[in-house]
Amino acid sequence: MTARMAKRAQQIAPFHVMRILQQARELEAQGRSIIHMEIGEPDFASPATVIRAGKQALDEKRTHYTAANGLPELRDAIANQYSEQVMIDAQRIIVTPGASGALQLVMATLLDPADGIMMADPGYPCNRHIASLFNADVQAVAVNQETDYQLSAELVERNWRDNTRVVLIASPSNPTGTLISPDQLSEIYQLVQGKGAHLIVDEIYHGLVYNQQVPSALSYGDQLFVINSFSKFYGMTGWRVGWLVVPDQYIEVANRLAQNMFLAAPTISQYAALAALDTETRPELLRRRDIFHQRRDILLPLIEQTGFKVRTRPGGAFYIYADCSAISDDSMKLCDTLLHDAGVAITPGEDFGSNNSRVYVRFSYANTIENLQEGMRRIQLATRNAN
Ligand SMILES: Cc1ncc(COP(=O)(O)O)c(C=O)c1O
Repeated sequence: MTARMAKRAQQIAPFHVMRILQQARELEAQGRSIIHMEIGEPDFASPATVIRAGKQALDEKRTHYTAANGLPELRDAIANQYSEQVMIDAQRIIVTPGASGALQLVMATLLDPADGIMMADPGYPCNRHIASLFNADVQAVAVNQETDYQLSAELVERNWRDNTRVVLIASPSNPTGTLISPDQLSEIYQLVQGKGAHLIVDEIYHGLVYNQQVPSALSYGDQLFVINSFSKFYGMTGWRVGWLVVPDQYIEVANRLAQNMFLAAPTISQYAALAALDTETRPELLRRRDIFHQRRDILLPLIEQTGFKVRTRPGGAFYIYADCSAISDDSMKLCDTLLHDAGVAITPGEDFGSNNSRVYVRFSYANTIENLQEGMRRIQLATRNAN
C-alpha cells in the first residue's frame, strides 16, 4: 500500500512564475537570450553597507540563535522607523524569516480551521495558499479598477460572512502595484473592529511608493497586525528577514508561536538588516527607489503601445498588471509563447487568482531600462507577427 500525503499538500496550487523562471533558465542554458520581466525581487544586490555588516557578523562569530522575537537592537531600530508617524513599543515587533514568516505567524495566531479570511483577487498567491494550509476559508473578493484593485469598506461589508474573522490588505499590491487610500484603509479598520474581527496589513512594498508619502496602517490604531520585510525596499530577499507588529495583547502568544515555528530569524541576516536601517544606507535605498520610479514611467507607455491595457496607474512596488485581451484570451498560453518565441518572461494572471485572470499578465520592472525596452520591442514584434 502506498502511504498518502496530506490533502492540504496535494491541494496547494503551484506558483506559475516559478515554472516560467525555471523554463527561462533552461532556455538560457541552451544559449537563448531571455529578458526577465517575471521576477518579483529587486535586480540590485543588497546595499554595500548591508553586505559589510553581514560579513562583520560572521567575522565576529555571531552564529548562534537570537531571541525568538529577534535582536533587541534590530527591534528598536524598526520601532524607530515608525516614530515620525506613530510611537510603537519595540515589544510589539517580532522579527521573522521574511514577510513569509510573518504571514505564517499571524495566520497561526488568528485562524482556526474554517475561519474566513477575506482578501483581494488578484492578490499575492502565497496569502491564499498559506491560509489554506491552516485550513482557513479563503474568501477572495474580486476587485477591479473602480477600487484601484484594492478592497474597499463597501466591498468588505458586502462580502462579509458569518465566519469571517480576518481581512487582509496588501498595499501597494502585488500584482497591481496599486495602493489603498488612507481613508478606505482607516474605514476598513473601523469596520473590522466593529465586527470583532482582525485586520492584517502587508506593507512589504511601502518603501517603494512613488510621488507620495503613505502612512503605515499602524497610525490608524493599535489593534491591527502589520507585516513588513527587508526583502524589497531594502533589497535583501535572500537574507530572509521581515517583521510582524502585533497588538499588545498578542505579544506573548506570537512569541510562543515564533519560538515553536522557527526559533528565530537568521542571526547574520538580522545584523545585516540593522545596517539596512542605518542612516548611512538611506541615500542608496532612495536612489534605487527613484530608479524603479523612472522604470515605471518608461515601461508603462511601452506596455500600452503594445496593445495591453493598464486600467489603474500603479503607485508603487515594481509591477504592472495589464489586460492582454486585445492580444490573447489565454494569458497562460501568451506567456508560454512569449517566452519560447520572443525570449521574454512575464507572469500569467492566473498566479494571482481567478478574477478575469486569463486575460491579465504581470510585468515586473526589476530589470534595467535597456532590458525592459528590448523586452517590449520583442513582444511588439511577436504580437504583431501573430496578428
Ligand atoms: C505582497 C507580498 N507579501 C509578502 C511577500 C514575501 O516576501 P518575503 O518573504 O521575501 O519577505 C511577497 C514576495 O513577493 C509579496 O509580494
